[in-house]
Amino acid sequence: MQLISSTLLLQHAKENGYCIGAFNVYTFDMLQAVVDAAIEMDSPIIIQTSVGSAKQLGLDHIVRYTQTASSISNIPISLHLDHCSDIDLISATIQAGYTSVMIDASHLPFEENVKQTQRVVELAKASNIHVEAELGKIGGVEDDIILDDSEATLANPQECQTFVTLTGINSLAPAIGTAHGIYRNGPKIDFSRIESIAELVSVPLVLHGGSGIPSDQVRKAISLGMCKMNIATELRIAFTNGIKNVFQQNPAESDPRIYMVEAIESLKKMVIDKILLCGSKGKALYFR
Ligand code: G3H
Ligand code: ZN
Repeated sequence: MQLISSTLLLQHAKENGYCIGAFNVYTFDMLQAVVDAAIEMDSPIIIQTSVGSAKQLGLDHIVRYTQTASSISNIPISLHLDHCSDIDLISATIQAGYTSVMIDASHLPFEENVKQTQRVVELAKASNIHVEAELGKIGGVEDDIILDDSEATLANPQECQTFVTLTGINSLAPAIGTAHGIYRNGPKIDFSRIESIAELVSVPLVLHGGSGIPSDQVRKAISLGMCKMNIATELRIAFTNGIKNVFQQNPAESDPRIYMVEAIESLKKMVIDKILLCGSKGKALYFR
């Protein structure tokens, strides 16, 4: 299959009450592990890169690798740029072949966030690229975006409605109490806020800070309207733990095929768990 737009994936998830896992990858081995897991689960997925990973791996390499994985795997894959405030970089990713982007101007005042988001929607429209944007401020650490708990603010449901109408975005990431990174005391999800936002907003909602949210809370968030769940930190940890295990058993190991295979297997298991939690297992067939 060719790379697919996140819009198609999220619309189907919204209409059928499940969620699409959006997996942050930092290396090509991680990308391979995520795709392998999705093939095993016959699940649609979104592969996403942070700005840092996009720059480190190179846009053309990421696009070609993901296109190839998609064409030989027969599962629907969308390639998404996560949390980006640089409109020139967004434009470059679209040119390179990403099918989905996130403009994150949530650090700016509401009116400015609207303006920046409108610009991205305009430039994405011509190529039918999915645009996600954020309202409120999601706390925690994501690449070089660092927001202390005291600076995080939850999204206002009325503002969400106005924001979606003014911008024409395809999906909305409202801050509802989750945070990026590992939770010290667990997430404090405001479920009634998700419900109010979902009532006022017609586009699919995106749950950020997916690592470490207890499964019952993820299921509840999905039942209230979350259609995409972003996961980064737990994936990094699973991948790294795979490598650490090998070196604990044999500190002299020097064959990457040995320690990378462990890392890939460890990450693959984590991704399979998340796909099962999202309820997207077996849903690939609806896109063929
Ligand atoms: O945008 C990416 C995420 O929201 C990932 O958050 O690192 O807590 O899983 P996480
Ligand atoms: Zn995020």
